[in-house]
Amino acid sequence: MGFGFFSSVLVFTLFFRPLVSQQPNTDEFFVSDFFKKMGLNYSSSVFDSSAPICSWEGVLCDDQEENVIGLVASGLGLSGFIPDSTIGKLGKLQTLDLSNNNITGLSSDLWGLGSTLKTLNLSNNHFSGFLPSNIGNFGVLENLDLSNNNFSGDIPASISSLSNLQVLKIDRNEFSGSIPPGILNCKSLVSIDLSYNQFNGTVPDGFGAAFPKLRTLNLAENGFHGRSSDFLGLKSIAYLNISGNMFQGSVMGVFQEPLEVIDLSRNQFQGHISQVHFNSSFNWSRLVYLDLSANELSGVFFQDLNQAKNLKHLNLAGNRFPEQEFPQIENLSNLEYLNLSRTSLTGSISTAISQLGELTVLDLSENHFTGRIPFLRTDNLQVIDVSQNNLTGEIPFPLLEKLPHMKKFNFSYNNLTLCASNFKPETLQTAFIGSQDSCPIAANPDLFRRKTTTHKGLKLSLAITVSIVCLLVGLLCLAFGCRRKTRRWASKQLSFKEEPNISGPFSFQTDSTTWVADVKHANSVPVVIFEKPLLNFTFADLLSATSHFDRGTLLADGRFGPVYRGFLPGGIHVAVKVLVHGSTMTDHEAAKELEYLGRIKHPNLVPLTGYCLAGDQRIAIYDYMENGNLQNLLHDLPLGVQTTEDWSTDTWEEDNNNGIQNVGSEGLLTTWRFRHKIALGTARALSFLHHGCSPPIIHRDVKASSVYLDSNLEPRLSDFGLAKIFGNGLEDEISRGSPGYVPPEFSQAEDGSPTPKSDVYGFGVILFELITGKKPIADDYPEEKDITLVNWVRGLVRKNQGSSAIDPKIRGTGSETQMEEALRIGYLCTADHPWKRPSMQQIVGLLKDIEPVVHP
Ligand SMILES: *[C@@H]1O[C@H](CO)[C@@H](O)[C@H](O)[C@H]1NC(C)=O
Ligand SMILES: *[C@@H]1O[C@H](CO)[C@@H](O)[C@H](O)[C@H]1NC(C)=O
Ligand SMILES: *[C@@H]1O[C@H](CO)[C@@H](O)[C@H](O)[C@H]1NC(C)=O
Ligand SMILES: *[C@@H]1O[C@H](CO)[C@@H](O)[C@H](O)[C@H]1NC(C)=O
Ligand SMILES: *[C@@H]1O[C@H](CO)[C@@H](O)[C@H](O)[C@H]1NC(C)=O
Ligand SMILES: *[C@@H]1O[C@H](CO)[C@@H](O)[C@H](O)[C@H]1NC(C)=O
Ligand SMILES: *[C@@H]1O[C@H](CO)[C@@H](O)[C@H](O)[C@H]1NC(C)=O
Ligand SMILES: *[C@@H]1O[C@H](CO)[C@@H](O)[C@H](O)[C@H]1NC(C)=O
Ligand SMILES: *[C@@H]1O[C@H](CO)[C@@H](O)[C@H](O)[C@H]1NC(C)=O
Ligand SMILES: *[C@@H]1O[C@H](CO)[C@@H](O)[C@H](O)[C@H]1NC(C)=O
Ligand SMILES: *[C@@H]1O[C@H](CO)[C@@H](O)[C@H](O)[C@H]1NC(C)=O
Ligand SMILES: *[C@@H]1O[C@H](CO)[C@@H](O)[C@H](O)[C@H]1NC(C)=O
Repeated sequence: MGFGFFSSVLVFTLFFRPLVSQQPNTDEFFVSDFFKKMGLNYSSSVFDSSAPICSWEGVLCDDQEENVIGLVASGLGLSGFIPDSTIGKLGKLQTLDLSNNNITGLSSDLWGLGSTLKTLNLSNNHFSGFLPSNIGNFGVLENLDLSNNNFSGDIPASISSLSNLQVLKIDRNEFSGSIPPGILNCKSLVSIDLSYNQFNGTVPDGFGAAFPKLRTLNLAENGFHGRSSDFLGLKSIAYLNISGNMFQGSVMGVFQEPLEVIDLSRNQFQGHISQVHFNSSFNWSRLVYLDLSANELSGVFFQDLNQAKNLKHLNLAGNRFPEQEFPQIENLSNLEYLNLSRTSLTGSISTAISQLGELTVLDLSENHFTGRIPFLRTDNLQVIDVSQNNLTGEIPFPLLEKLPHMKKFNFSYNNLTLCASNFKPETLQTAFIGSQDSCPIAANPDLFRRKTTTHKGLKLSLAITVSIVCLLVGLLCLAFGCRRKTRRWASKQLSFKEEPNISGPFSFQTDSTTWVADVKHANSVPVVIFEKPLLNFTFADLLSATSHFDRGTLLADGRFGPVYRGFLPGGIHVAVKVLVHGSTMTDHEAAKELEYLGRIKHPNLVPLTGYCLAGDQRIAIYDYMENGNLQNLLHDLPLGVQTTEDWSTDTWEEDNNNGIQNVGSEGLLTTWRFRHKIALGTARALSFLHHGCSPPIIHRDVKASSVYLDSNLEPRLSDFGLAKIFGNGLEDEISRGSPGYVPPEFSQAEDGSPTPKSDVYGFGVILFELITGKKPIADDYPEEKDITLVNWVRGLVRKNQGSSAIDPKIRGTGSETQMEEALRIGYLCTADHPWKRPSMQQIVGLLKDIEPVVHP
C-alpha cells in the first residue's frame, strides 16, 4: 500500500515537471497526454522527461520543432485503448510505431491522419475485432503492420484505396474470408504477409500481373486453395511461402525468376516433380531455399537441382516419389539443411554427401537405404536422423566422435553397430533401439555383451551393466519379434517343430481379413513339396516358417488372400499364398488341380513349389521371387501402402554368389531393352499357358503385379490357374479382373466369360505400362482427364502420335521406332472386340520382330 503510494507520487512528479512548459493543443501536449493515459512508466523508459519532447528518442519533429512527425513507442508497456484527442491530433504525423505494447483499441480520431501517415505499426499488441474500413483513408500509407494481434473478419474492401502501400503485414491474426480483389489496386506492394490467419478461397484473378514490384509473398498457414500458376507473372518475386495451405496441381508454375526462396511445403501439390525440369528458363543458381515437403509429388528427381549451387536448404520429405536412388547433389556445396526423409530412396547413401561441408541438418529417415553410412563432414553437423532404413555396419568414426556434441541424432531401426562406450544407456535407448512392433534392430548385441564383461566390478558400472543386459534381452526379443529370416534364423527355428502337437484350430488376422485353419494337430497336416517328397513337412513347419503367419512376414494382402514370406527348413525360401475365400472344390479335386499346376514348368512362370490343404484353406507355396514385381518396380507406391508385394528392396539375404540379386533392378528398368525383355518373357509365359497346355489355361488376372523378376532378372508370371481353385462361387468376382486390366466385353452381360483373348487384353495393358511408365488407371495422362491408360494411348496411336507417350526414362535408350511399334502391338491387344486381338503366339512373334539388338 505504502509502496504503491510512493511510486505513484514518483510518477506524478516526474511527469509533471515537463508538463509545466507544455501548452495545451500543441503536439508536445498531445504526446505527453497520450503517454500519461496509456500508463507509461517514465522511470523504466528511455525518455528523459525533463527534456523537451522533440529531443526524446523515438520522437521526431519537423524543423521548427513544432510538429511531431514521427512517434516510435515500441515496447513501453503501454496498455488499454488509445484515447481521443491524443495522437489522433498530431496533424503532421507520418510514422506511428506502437509495436510491442498491450494496446487494445484505436481512437476514432486516428483515422483523421489519413493525409500524412506513411507508416503504421501496431504489431504485437492486443487489438481485436474487425479492422474498420476507415483504413481506406490512409491514401499515402506505405507500411502497414498489424501482425500478431487478434484482428478478425475480412480485410476491408477499402484496402483498394491504399495505392501507395508497399508493405502489408497482417500475419498472426484471426482474419478470415478471402483476399478482396481490390487489393490488386495496391500496385506498389513489395511485401505481403498474410500468414497464420484463417483465410480461405483463392487468390484474386490476375494476382500475378498486379504486383510488378512484389518481392515477398507469404500466405503460409491459411486455408487458401489454388494452383501454382496463380503466381505466374510476379516479375520481382524473390520469396514465396505458401506452406500449410491447400494448393493443388503441378508445382511447375512456381519456378520462375527471380525466386530465391520457395516454400511449398504442406500443400496438396501432385504430379511429377520432373515437370519442373521442363521450365528450363528458370535460373537455378539463384535458389537458396527449396521446401517441397509434405505434398503428393511423384516422379523421379530432376538433375537441374544439382545446378542450384547456392542452395542452402533442401527439403523434399514426405512425398509420393517412386523408389529411386539418391538424387545428385554433389554440386550443392553450400547446402546446410538436407531433408530427404520418406522419399522412397533405395540403394546406398550417396558418397557425394561427403562433399557437403556446410551441412548442419541431415534427415534421411524412413527410406530403404542399405549399406553403410558414408563418410560425412561433421564440422557443422548438429542433427542427423537416419532412422528406419536398412543400414548396416559401424557408424563412421568422425561422426561417432561428434555425436556427444550434437543436438540430435537418431539411428534406430537399422542394423548399425556402435563401437563406443561413452553413451548413457538412456541415450542408446532413444537413438539406437527400435520398438517391439517394428523392424529391424538397430544396435549390435555383441557390443553389449562385450561391455558386460569389461565393466564388471565397479558399482556404478554394474548398474549400467544390468540395464545393458536388459537391453540385450530386449534386443534379442526384438530380433525374434522381427522375425527377419536369414538362413541362420531359419535353422534355429527348427526347434519349433520339436514341440509336440501344436493344436488348432488356428486363427490369423491381416488388415483385410481373418482366416482360420481348422486343423486339430498342426503336425499331422502334410505340406506337399513337389521336388522334395521325402522331406515330410507339415503345417507346423509352415507355422514356424512364417512365425505363425505373423503380420511381419506378410508380403501382400491380395485379392485371393494374404501372401506370406517364409523359410522352410533346409533354407527353402518361399512365398506362401493362402486362398482364403474357400472353394466349392473337394479336397481331392483341389489337390489334383494343385498337383497339375505343380507340373507346369516354364522359364517365364513362377513355379508352384508345393501346397497344403489346411482345413478349408488351400495354401499354395511358390518359389520366392527375389526382385519383386513389375508394378512395384515400374510405378511403386507410397510408403506404407501395402497393396502389392514389396520385395524390391530386399537385402536381408545372405550374399549369393551370382551377385545379381537386389542390385539395382530398378535401374535396369530404365532401358528399352530390359522392358522389351519383360514384355517378351511375359508373352511367352501366356503363349505357353494358352497354346502349350491341354486344356489351355486361362490366367484370368494378367496384370503388372503378377509379373515377377527372379534372381536372374528373368520375368516370371505368377498366379496362373488359381482362379479355378479359388472356387466357382467367386469366379464371377475374380473373372472381373483387376481395375485397369478388365476387357470391355466383361462389362457386357452376353459375352462376359474369360477367354484367352481376355488375357491378351490384360497383356496389352502391361505393354502400355512398360512403354509409357504410367499406371493403367488414375495416373497423370497429359492433356487428358478421367481417362484410362488404354484410352489415352489408343487415342495417341490412332493419331500417329504414339511417340509422345513414351516414358521419358527409356526414351533414348533404344530405337523409338521399336517402342512405337510396341505401342501398336498393345493397340491390337486392347481392341474392343476380342476377335480383333491377336493370339499370344502371334504376339510373341511380333515382339521378337522388334527385339533390340544386343551389342556385345
Ligand atoms: C516503473 O519502472 C520501475 C523500474 O523498472 C519499477 O521499479 C516500478 O515499479 C515501475 N512502476 C510502475 C508504476 O509500474
Ligand atoms: C501486457 O499485459 C500482460 C497482462 O495483461 C502482462 O503480463 C504483460 O507483461 C504486458 N506486456 C507488456 C509488453 O507490457
Ligand atoms: C513493426 O515493429 C516491429 C517491432 O518493432 C518490427 O519488427 C517490424 O519490422 C515493424 N514493421 C514494419 C513494417 O516496419
Ligand atoms: C481474440 O478475439 C476473440 C473474439 O474475436 C476472443 O474470443 C479471443 O479470446 C481473443 N484472443 C486473444 C488471445 O485475445
Ligand atoms: C471460408 O470460410 C468461411 C468460414 O470461415 C466459410 O463460410 C466460407 O464458405 C469459406 N469459403 C470457402 C471458399 O471455402
Ligand atoms: C514459411 O512459413 C512457415 C510458417 O510460418 C515457416 O515455418 C517457414 O519457415 C517459412 N519458410 C520460409 C522459407 O521462411
Ligand atoms: C518458366 O519460367 C519463366 C521464367 O522464370 C517464366 O516466365 C514462365 O512463366 C515459366 N513457365 C511456366 C510454364 O511456368
Ligand atoms: C543466374 O543467376 C546468377 C546469380 O544471380 C547470375 O549470376 C547469372 O548470370 C544468371 N544466369 C542467367 C542465365 O540469367
Ligand atoms: C556440377 O559441377 C561440375 C563442375 O563444376 C559441372 O561440370 C557439372 O555440369 C555440374 N552439374 C550440374 C548438373 O550442374
Ligand atoms: C524433415 O521434413 C519432415 C517433413 O516436413 C519433417 O517432419 C521433419 O521434422 C524434417 N526433419 C528435420 C530434421 O527437420
Ligand atoms: C546386421 O549386419 C551384420 C553385418 O554388419 C550382418 O552380419 C547381419 O546379418 C545383419 N543382421 C540382419 C538381421 O540383417
Ligand atoms: C528392410 O529390409 C526388409 C527385408 O528385406 C524389408 O522388409 C524392409 O521393408 C526394409 N526396411 C526398410 C525401412 O526399407
